[in-house]
This record gives sequence, C-alpha cells and structure tokens, in this order.
Amino acid sequence: MNLSETRSTKVIRVEACTPDPAAIHTAAQVIQNGGLVAFPTETVYGLGANALDADAIRSIYRAKQRPSGDPIIAHIYSLAQLDQLAQHVPPAALAFAEAFWPGPLTLILRRAPEIPAVLAEGMDTIAVRMPAHPVATSLLRTANLPIGAPSANRFTRPSATSADHVLEDLAGRIDLLLDGGPSNIGIESTVLDLTEHPRILRPGGITLDALRAVVPEVTTASRFLGEKELSISPGQMLKHYSPRAQLLLYRGPDSAVLARQAENCADAEAAGQRSGVLALATDELAFPANTLVERLPKDSSLAGVSNALFAAIRTLDSQGCDIILARDFGRSGLGEAIWDRLLRAAEGKVIDVA
Ligand code: TXA
Ligand code: MG
Repeated sequence: MNLSETRSTKVIRVEACTPDPAAIHTAAQVIQNGGLVAFPTETVYGLGANALDADAIRSIYRAKQRPSGDPIIAHIYSLAQLDQLAQHVPPAALAFAEAFWPGPLTLILRRAPEIPAVLAEGMDTIAVRMPAHPVATSLLRTANLPIGAPSANRFTRPSATSADHVLEDLAGRIDLLLDGGPSNIGIESTVLDLTEHPRILRPGGITLDALRAVVPEVTTASRFLGEKELSISPGQMLKHYSPRAQLLLYRGPDSAVLARQAENCADAEAAGQRSGVLALATDELAFPANTLVERLPKDSSLAGVSNALFAAIRTLDSQGCDIILARDFGRSGLGEAIWDRLLRAAEGKVIDVA
C-alpha cells in the first residue's frame, strides 16, 4: 500500500447554513472525478469519496492511514438512494429513517450486490446515514451520488470536529476541505444493526431511549466485559480516539475522583510530567498550578460535553500533555456515547475510585 501519496489540499470556507452553491459545485466535481473531499456533518467532519467508485474508496484508506477491516458509512440525501445501496429495506429501517433522518443515526442493512464490497470490507452489509448538516446535504444533492465517508481524522486520532482538526491530520492527503465551522454534536452517529433484531453497535448521537421509543426491542451490543472487550463491531477496536498523551479514565463519586486526580497530577508533576484535565465547568478544582484544565460545559443531556470533548482532547494533546485525566461524566442522554469514546481513548482501562 502506498502510504506517501500527496495531494495539494484546497480549503474553501462556506456558510454552515447557506453554503455558496459555487463552492458546493466545485466539491461535487471533485467527488464525481474520484477525488477526496472533507466536509462538515452535524456529528464530526467526514472524509468523503464517491461510494460507487472502489478506487476512490481505497484512497480514503490511504489518506487516513487506516488499516483494512474498518468499513465505511455511505451518506445519502434522499430515501430513494436506499434502494440503490441496500438489497432489502426492512420496515424497521423506514421507521428509524422517518424518526431520525436526517440526523446522527447510521443503519446497517444488507448490501446491494452492485455496490463495491470494499466499502464494507467484503461483508455483505452496508452502513447508511442521511446527515443533517446543510453543507453535507448540499454536497450530496449536487454530486447526486452516495458519498462514502469515515470521520476525517488520521487513524487512531480523535475525530475531527473543526476544519483545523482536519488539516492537522490530513493536510496534503486530500483534495479539498469545505470549512463550514465546528460540528454541532461533536460525537459520531449511533450505529444500529438492522440485519437481524435491532442492535446498537456503537452508541452515538441518538440515544438508546430515543431508538426504543420507535422500536422497543432495540438492544446494545455488550462490547465490554469488565476491562476486556467482549465482541467488537468491525473497526471498533479499543485503540481508537487516542491522543498522543496517555488518557487516564476515572470512575467514582465526583469529589473522590477529583481528589484522586489532583493527587495523580501532583505525582506526575513531581516526576517532570505535564498533566491536563477534562473537567466540568461546574467542578471545584484544586489541581497543582501547572495543570492544564479544559472545562466542558454540561447540561442535562450532556450535549455540551459531547460538543467539546474531542476538541478538548486535541487541545491538551497539542499543549504537550503527557497524561490527560478524564472521568465518567454520567450515562444519561449522550453519556453512554461519551463513556464509549473515553473508554477507547483510555484503551479500555478504568481507574475505580471508592
Ligand atoms: O457520525 C458519523 O458516523 C461520522 C460522520 C462522518 O458521518 N462517520 C464516522 O465514520 O464516524 P467512521 O468510519 O469513523 O465510523 C463508522 C463506524 C465504523 O467504525 C464501523 O464500526 C461502523 O461504522 N460500520 C460501518 N460499516 C459497517 C458495516 N457494514 N457493518 C457494521 N458496522 C459498520
Ligand atoms: Mg472514526
């Protein structure tokens, strides 16, 4: 595999709500010609290519330096495109689509035989999502093709929620970046397998409760048994979302966790290490003076935390932290998805504080 392929990366700034049609047209042409375009979605930035062009999809893997075994989501703008991608569209898919599309939900269906197998890494399934971001929607409509797009980060780096993050990871490796400002949700879509009974493979922007309001039988794949991964959906390996720094994940009552984190920061400092903390804006903090703190806004659904999470990890990383200390922020609303991302960043290790 050629890992050193270089491209000159053009950046076009567009209004998030009313993107300039000329810019969208340029991007659509790049997609139609087999090129790579990074674009904003409401969850995270995507790294897009024509989903019907196997060579273009292969170039996504090269740009991300992503090993095979990690299938790619096909993005659509209209329900009519589902029939082209899926062999069979079960009634549950239409019910979920009606409830949550456009939006942060990805459905796994049986793949139509004429869709390139490389998109699904040879499996007989396909992941499909209709994003809600106006830039993504305009691009999909103008290109009039399904666009295969993983998150626009280098393999194992935190997902990109702004154009700067995309450039950090992919400058010189993609043809075009549509800079539409920061992603709103900040965490990737929920991946829901509909090939058998509905099962969540990755928690994300749509919560389990919201899915159960449509189909009560939805279950969650139990991927973690204690510290060990039990069963994995393709591409969901533990070494994912990791910063360069080591991420330490604490679980327990808030005050006890904060006290332990402060102790560990002091130990780190004494050992000549730099530490950074992901804290809530409301936390009372007593950390050593040199500790870097990223404050995450919290509301009842944890939307503030999810919106700021990946950006905060990238900031602490770029400030040269050796360790990043994070904790369980609760499991209501988006909490399950936030916990999943933190657990991956911590490579599955949890520090329990009584
Ligand atoms: O919000 C999102 O989902 C973002 C934006 C850009 O749409 N995309 C994204 O893509 O997060 P990616 O490639 O980073 O993660 C997609 C995940 C994969 O890790 C894999 O687990 C799952 O979706 N997936 C994709 N195709 C699949 C398939 N055929 N069967 C099972 N899981 C699949
Ligand atoms: Mg990803």
